[in-house]
Amino acid sequence: MTVSEDKFTRQTLQRVTPLTPNLFTLRVTRDPGFRFRAGQFARLGVTKADGTTVWRAYSMVSSPHDEFLEFFSIVVPDGEFTSELSRLREGDSLMVEKQAFGYLTLDRFIDGRDLWLLSTGTGVAPFLSILQDFEVWEKFERVILVYSVRETRELAYQSLIAELMEREYLAEYAHKFLFLPTVTREQHPGALNGRITQLIENGELERAAGIEITPEHSRVMLCGNPQMIDDTRALLKQRDMRLSLSRKPGQVAVETYW
Ligand SMILES: Cc1cc2nc3c(=O)[nH]c(=O)nc-3n(C[C@H](O)[C@H](O)[C@H](O)COP(=O)(O)OP(=O)(O)OC[C@H]3O[C@@H](n4cnc5c(N)ncnc54)[C@H](O)[C@@H]3O)c2cc1C
Ligand SMILES: NC(=O)c1ccc[n+]([C@@H]2O[C@H](COP(=O)([O-])OP(=O)(O)OC[C@H]3O[C@@H](n4cnc5c(N)ncnc54)[C@H](OP(=O)(O)O)[C@@H]3O)[C@@H](O)[C@H]2O)c1
Repeated sequence: MTVSEDKFTRQTLQRVTPLTPNLFTLRVTRDPGFRFRAGQFARLGVTKADGTTVWRAYSMVSSPHDEFLEFFSIVVPDGEFTSELSRLREGDSLMVEKQAFGYLTLDRFIDGRDLWLLSTGTGVAPFLSILQDFEVWEKFERVILVYSVRETRELAYQSLIAELMEREYLAEYAHKFLFLPTVTREQHPGALNGRITQLIENGELERAAGIEITPEHSRVMLCGNPQMIDDTRALLKQRDMRLSLSRKPGQVAVETYW
């Protein structure tokens, strides 16, 4: 895909932080004109050695009120984009399309009491943006972040999550938040052990949260692995919960990463 020069800006990498050999976080400068809603994604561009540019979608981790943009990335072995992205260092430049995209935003839901944010791997990114924004705390009584990874070391942004509700502007909402990590390929004290789908099927997720998932009260956002999204949607459908569309409001919103 070619993108004309007036459609993107060049931003500077401020920080690159490896988490595991396959995961890293990056912070870049933000063009003052770049606007987005929490939960949306940007298209990022890198130039390869042969001079061609590759573009990929990346959800913002940072909130709309931050001065920088933060992203959380996988490294796909031989991946066309991530092979280049993971080579970049502080001071290098990254192309960011001027327009933000995506519908994994709170305006998908016209009502609801409890918001369930169900993520696998890097799919936690848009939820971190949503959690750092005011709107979610004003709109919902309970907000449950579920984050599924294979191994404990892949749990990113643990200090951000732990300290989130200590921020002055969020402290009054601290009682609304529940974080439920789940680690699927090893035991980890303090985390659940099982796929999101299994935890819904066997009731463990609702037991851990102390809240039932019902069409009346629950609104569910799903992000990450496409198979997890399909399988979870099927489970939610059994409970009469469906995709929320502008012409027909529902209980579920999704973002599929590949
Ligand atoms: C709306 C949207 C938002 C996205 N946001 C993010 C994000 O915030 N962080 C991020 O790392 N990726 C994100 N992605 C995926 C990203 O766009 C690229 O697919 C990823 O950077 C890999 O690019 P690649 O060219 O190296 O490999 P690709 O050729 O694009 O992908 C090769 C394969 O790698 C696997 N894969 C791709 N992305 C991921 C992933 N994120 N986690 C696990 N396996 C993956 C899949 O099996 C895929 O078929 C998003 C995708 C979409 C559609
Ligand atoms: N993570 C690694 O150590 C590693 C190393 C090298 C390469 N890779 C490659 O990187 C890619 C992504 O790895 P990833 O670990 O970030 O993402 P992932 O495979 O999507 O796994 C992330 C989490 O999602 C769960 N999950 C996967 N499919 C699911 C489904 N259908 N329903 C419910 N939950 C589901 C996984 O559970 P399960 O554990 O049960 O699958 C895991 O807890 C893969 O293609 C992988 O081959 C990963």
